[in-house]
Formats: sequence, C-alpha cells, structure tokens
Amino acid sequence: MRDKWSSKVGFILAAAGSAVGLGNIWKFPYSVGTNGGGVFVALYILFLITIGCPLMLAAITLGRKTQKSVFGAYKSIDHRWSFVGALGVVCGFFILAFYSTVGGWVLYYFKSAITGKLNTTDPNILGDIFAQLMNSPKELIFYQCIFLIVTIVIVLKGISNGIEKASKIMMPALFVMLIIIAIRSITLKGSLEGIRFLFTPDFSKLNMDVAMNALGQMFFSLSIGMGVMVTYGSYLDKKVNILDTALMIPVIDTAVALIAGLATIPAVFALGFEVGEGPKLMFVTLPAVFASMPMGTLFCIVFFLLVIFAALTSSISMLEVAISYFVDEKKKDRVKSTLLIGLVIFLLGIPASLSMGPWENVSFIGKLNFFDLYDKLTSNILLTTGAFFLCVFVGWVLKTEEAIKEIESSNVTFTLAPVWSFLIKYIVPIAIFIILISAYKDFILSLLL
Ligand code: PHE
Repeated sequence: MRDKWSSKVGFILAAAGSAVGLGNIWKFPYSVGTNGGGVFVALYILFLITIGCPLMLAAITLGRKTQKSVFGAYKSIDHRWSFVGALGVVCGFFILAFYSTVGGWVLYYFKSAITGKLNTTDPNILGDIFAQLMNSPKELIFYQCIFLIVTIVIVLKGISNGIEKASKIMMPALFVMLIIIAIRSITLKGSLEGIRFLFTPDFSKLNMDVAMNALGQMFFSLSIGMGVMVTYGSYLDKKVNILDTALMIPVIDTAVALIAGLATIPAVFALGFEVGEGPKLMFVTLPAVFASMPMGTLFCIVFFLLVIFAALTSSISMLEVAISYFVDEKKKDRVKSTLLIGLVIFLLGIPASLSMGPWENVSFIGKLNFFDLYDKLTSNILLTTGAFFLCVFVGWVLKTEEAIKEIESSNVTFTLAPVWSFLIKYIVPIAIFIILISAYKDFILSLLL
C-alpha cells in the first residue's frame, strides 16, 4: 500500500509548504524591482489565472490518477514521455543548488539577528553586512551546507509528519508576521511611491524579457514544472475534491508573494534603498524595517526563523522528487541515494554560493555567473519546458476528458470543465511556447556571448 495523506489538510499544508518559500518572500519582491514594477505584477497575475491555476489542477490530477511520482506518472500512461519526469529530476538538482545558497544566507541572517548586528536603518551599513557575507567563502559554504544537511535529515528521517504538524503553526505565523511587516512598511513616510511602483503598471516597460521572467517566476513560486505537484497529488485519496484544493494553493501562494512585496517595496522607497538591487533586496531592506519598529530585534529573529522554515518545506519537496526517482524507478537504496544526491547538490551549489563575491565574474560558459546560470536555467528554461510538456501531455496524451473524469470521480461537478479543457489544449501550450522560444534564444545567446 502506498502512503496517503492523513487528511486533505495534510496535503494542502505540504503542497502550500512547497509553494510558499524563498520564491515568494525573497525572489518575488526583487523580481518586481528588476522587471519594471507594476507591469511585472500585472503580468504575473494574468499568467497565474490563465496558466498557473489550470496547470496546478492538471498536475495534481495527473498525480492522483496514476498514483505515482512524476517519472512513473508519465511512464505509466506513455513510456515515451518519461523523459519529462527525468527533466524534473535534473531541474530539482539545479534549483536546490542555488536555493541552498540563499537558504544559507537566511541562516546567517538569523544568527546575525540574534547577535543584534542587523539593528540599523542605514542602507550603507546593511549593504556592507551583505557584501561582507558575500566575500566570506567559508561562511557561505558553511551555512549552505547546514541548510542542505537539515533538508536531508528531514527527508531521510521521514519526519515529514512532524513537519506537517509544525506547518500548522509556522505557516500561519509567517503569514501574520508578513502582514505586520507590510503594515509597518506602508506606514513609513515616503512609502506611497513604492505602493504605486508595485500596483500601477507602466506598460511602456512591457517586453518579452518581463513576460519571460514573470512566467518563470510564477512556475517557480507555484512549484510547477518539475513534478512536485504531480508527486504530492499521487498521495491523495480518491475521495478528496481536488478542484478546490488546486485553487487554494495558488491563492495562498500569491497572497504571500504580494504581501511580501508590500512588506519590502514601499520600505525600499521610504528608507532610501535601490529597488533594482536584485537578490540582496530582502536582506538589506527588511532589517531596516525591523529596526524602525518597536521590538524590532525580536521581530527580526522570529522572521528569519520562519523564513528558514518556509524554505525548508520547499527544499524538501525538491529533494523528494529526485529521491523518489532513484528509489522507485532505479530501485536504489533510499539512504545511500539521498546522501549521494545531497553531496552532488552541495558541490553544484558551491560555485553559486561564491557568485556574488569572489566568483562574481566567473562563468562556466558565456557571461552568466553560476548563480544567474542556475536561476535562469531552472525558472526560464527547465520549469517552463516542464510545464509546457505537462500541459501537452494532459491535453493530448492523457486527454482532458480523462482528466475531467478523474476530477469528477470524487463526486464534484466541474462546471468550468470546457473552459479548462480549452485552456489546457490550446491557449496555455501556445502561450508558453511563444515565451519559451524567446527564453531559449535569450539563454543560448547569454551562453555564447
Ligand atoms: N516554490 C518554491 C518557492 O517559492 C520553490 C520551488 C520550486 C519548490 C520548484 C519546489 C519546486 O520557494
């Protein structure tokens, strides 16, 4: 017998746990900053409704129908498609390689919050703290390693049960915390410009790059395109209504991203930071927000702790996809494969960890440093490609009629079934395809030039 989620709540917690992570709290706000503000947010929401939500349902349905993790799910319906599962495994390696880098930064900031080092609103001092970390290879690699070890221990010990229980407290706590920070941020003097930057789209800034990044960010944030949701869906009982579940995850995920945006961007404008700062945005801005509120140090400590937790519920989902492939498909030993995969990811991650410091201009091929290479390769290429294949597969190989039967097997009527079917068969694959062409072009050029 395969394991099942103890309850629907258990599934939602795990799936939302995978979705909500550094992607929402760290990546979304800085991507808004580097992609023109409101126009990125508007596009993100448009893609979410027309592409993300339909695909979330497709992924969960595929998993529940086959009751198999991603590789087996594709294989059991048409073995020629199992490469999509393999693509997801590779993607998981690269995401975790740079995800653990950033997870390491968060650990370091948690420690620095405890020692009171972050208690200042001065952009220069906060910038220096970040720069110092980026130029301390030992520390970077040490914290990255700790983050990976914790991920591995959770996955190995199968204490996901405990994680599930802890999620019930930690995730709502993170949510409340973000709301408080957002309130502080938007009540700072001079925050209005930031709110405007977030929510007033300037369509003159719209271009293919922004579209590509918004789509990639959406897949990254929803954990779609590498098989996490297929795998998690496979543990769902046939009685569970997957329709509302599939809607709930994107809603929660996007709410967290938007609130994180509100916590960060207005403060950037109010406190004199740079909105186009990139990956360091959250790390320099939020400590300043804490420093400007009562009990700021305590808030800062708790906040970074909750972010570590949110990052771990995401990183375990990535690792799980890779492990289930080696254990289920290749019949390898679980402990040995986990340790080996962990080691490979650690080694892959080291160059990413050094990319904002000593290895800033070191690249494998082309002009991207390792951090940017992994980031672009996963969000814009691998996840987007995986999402494209997922869509074509459910639309044309499994067929939407079959999928709808699976969805309705738990005694629900899927009133929007014709709309969903049309989206999955035509609109979504065509839209992704158009953006993918330009993503490939862009990626290949950045490697060649
Ligand atoms: N969705 C996660 C986040 O927002 C990242 C992730 C991507 C997790 C892909 C699993 C798979 O942080």
